[in-house]
Amino acid sequence: MENIEDKISGLLHGYQGGLVLMTACELGVFDALTGPPVSALEVAEKLGLSEKGVERLLNALAALGIAAKDNEKYSLPEEWLPYLTKDGERSMHQWMWLSKKLIQPWLEMDRFVRSGENISSIMDMLGSEPENMRAFTDAMHDKGLKATWTLAREIPIGDCKKMLDLGGGPGTYSLEWCKLHPHLKATILDIPPVLEVAKEYIKRYGLKDRVTTKPGDFHKDGLGTEYDLVLLANILHMYEGDQGRALVQKAADCLAPGGRIVIHGFCTDDGDVAPLNDVLFSVNIGLLTPGGRAHPVKEKIDWLEAAGIGEIRHFRVDAVPTGVVTGVKKG
Ligand SMILES: C[S@@+](CC[C@H](N)C(=O)[O-])C[C@H]1O[C@@H](n2cnc3c(N)ncnc32)[C@H](O)[C@@H]1O
Repeated sequence: MENIEDKISGLLHGYQGGLVLMTACELGVFDALTGPPVSALEVAEKLGLSEKGVERLLNALAALGIAAKDNEKYSLPEEWLPYLTKDGERSMHQWMWLSKKLIQPWLEMDRFVRSGENISSIMDMLGSEPENMRAFTDAMHDKGLKATWTLAREIPIGDCKKMLDLGGGPGTYSLEWCKLHPHLKATILDIPPVLEVAKEYIKRYGLKDRVTTKPGDFHKDGLGTEYDLVLLANILHMYEGDQGRALVQKAADCLAPGGRIVIHGFCTDDGDVAPLNDVLFSVNIGLLTPGGRAHPVKEKIDWLEAAGIGEIRHFRVDAVPTGVVTGVKKG
């Protein structure tokens, strides 16, 4: 049996390694480790930090198995560079930034538990704090890349021609799937400030002719018609059940018969106590939205059935989040 004391200690200190990572990211330490090995003093001087603090941080990164230390000099192993550097091909930089930003609401979790009220609001932040909106949207892109590739392997989207990406954020799924399938065209629907970021990504991908943006509020505005693929990635968790059900109905209504709906997002299994990441995410989103929740898989399947979707399939993928529910609109 697992030692209870060890388990409690592990949980109590679990945040520390993560904070080392986030602080290194925030202070530019990873980008200072891209060249030949450097001493703590060299990193400190380059970044205007204290030698003492940098040395502790670098030693902690080495102890975590992230940095290498040899002869009092530090470096990053080749395989970590794409993930940790700001402009790395698989950069998780903005995601680390977002994770740090989310610590503050977690520190106020007692207020949430006492009152049931959220501590801050993602939608207020996206709509009215341009710098945070930018970082959040970039973080979505960092986080979404792996998921787009994994889903594309699992779901038959190869024959689709007209896709709607509801609350598409930076448009990562649309862009990666259009890159993969040259006959696919996509519309990213989101609020105007977020779409300004999406437009930059569209330009960067060189997909202006096939990926367009549609400003709007998906609860209130028309979504268009005759899509053969509608994606709801990481949006249902922001809303309470009734809104989720209505949104799934609206998404199904804008599909042509035979069209596919894909829901990717956090979702718990029956009983709401697994998988762990999804259960913890439910706390996270409770801190950040008035009614959000990692809706259980079963609930999403019910919504799809009520909306006239058949051939429903649920599976989990090796990405964050893991939950996928998909189906096809009945003819
Ligand atoms: C967590 S992000 C997910 C972005 C993207 N789907 C992804 O998975 O990378 C949620 C997105 O939904 C958008 N969103 C939330 N509520 C919305 C609404 N009522 N109308 C339009 N967009 C909305 C947000 O602006 C944000 O870009």
